[in-house]
Amino acid sequence: MHTIEELLSLVSVEIETEIEQLYHTEPKNLYEPVGYALSMGGKRLRPVMVLLASEIFSSDSGNAMPVAKAIELFHNFTLLHDDIMDGAEMRRNNLSVYKKYSENVAILSGDAMSIMAYNYLLKCQSDNLPAIIRLFSQTALEVCEGQQFDMDFESRLDVSIDEYLHMIKLKTAVLLACSLKIGALTANAPLKIADELYNFGLNLGIAFQLQDDLLDVFADQQKFGKKIGGDIASNKKTYLLLKALELSSETLKSQLLKWIEKTEFDVSEKVNSITAIYNELGIKEITESNIEAYYQLALKILNDMDLPDEKKTGLFQLAAIIMNRDH
Ligand code: IPE
Ligand code: IPE
Ligand code: MG
Ligand code: MG
Ligand code: MG
Repeated sequence: MHTIEELLSLVSVEIETEIEQLYHTEPKNLYEPVGYALSMGGKRLRPVMVLLASEIFSSDSGNAMPVAKAIELFHNFTLLHDDIMDGAEMRRNNLSVYKKYSENVAILSGDAMSIMAYNYLLKCQSDNLPAIIRLFSQTALEVCEGQQFDMDFESRLDVSIDEYLHMIKLKTAVLLACSLKIGALTANAPLKIADELYNFGLNLGIAFQLQDDLLDVFADQQKFGKKIGGDIASNKKTYLLLKALELSSETLKSQLLKWIEKTEFDVSEKVNSITAIYNELGIKEITESNIEAYYQLALKILNDMDLPDEKKTGLFQLAAIIMNRDH
């Protein structure tokens, strides 16, 4: 079995090769933005998860690599479109694709990436390929559902924590879960364990998005690579905002609502004011303890899995890396 660092460098070599080819493919305005997005790196967690899960059951990850690339391409595709939808001008410390090129370019290059992802899936020579494609397609559709809920919630004030959790499960957690299960499927893992890996990934994924919401307010922008306060600016119903609405006194709540209702405002003034309310209510600590709760749920699933301890080491390390991230 490879270490996580080794898996990351295996994936990165493959992605660099892909980028090189993209820069020589016409039309330039379709493929170059794909290369641009991929070359900014990102953590590449999902392809590493595919390979990690595969190597639990097989020493030959040859079948898993194209699937790992497919998932990373799909993930990057969702980011191209997500940045348009969220009006996010910065990603991975660079201009987001729509900002560097144009919205039309980001839409079409994103479309191409989602199709390229399927072409990669088809390179996987496994009897499980139909099941792999089914899981991938179901996950992709769930991500779209989550993204639509995310946008619908921007204009609602009555979003419950349960609705929020359902939304982040769809937009984010299912892809992490899918990465593990699909990796296991490429190596013909027993379905029961593949499903347990899925559930482990789902809880880790919920913790991951809660963490992303937290970092969106409290991270160091240089490390995070995305503009701090983007969620606050666009009235995203994050866990932080929902908890603040729930816990605030009449006075603080009316201040929050005043900012949410404003259609014209100075962004940093809004971000600073709402962050100050979060600080007053201890929202950071409350969110951190909820992240920890989902992390512990994930760890319990992993502990209970019927696998030898040495096969679980990489997954424990991955979970710790995800939980301790600052970007
Ligand atoms: C960003 O995912 C989108 C979310 C689901 C929060 P990552 O934080 O994995 O982004 P990169 O690929 O490392 O940039
Ligand atoms: C994104 O959620 C989830 C998907 C891209 C599907 P966010 O909108 O919070 O992700 P970031 O913060 O822009 O990376
Ligand atoms: Mg976004
Ligand atoms: Mg979004
Ligand atoms: Mg975010």
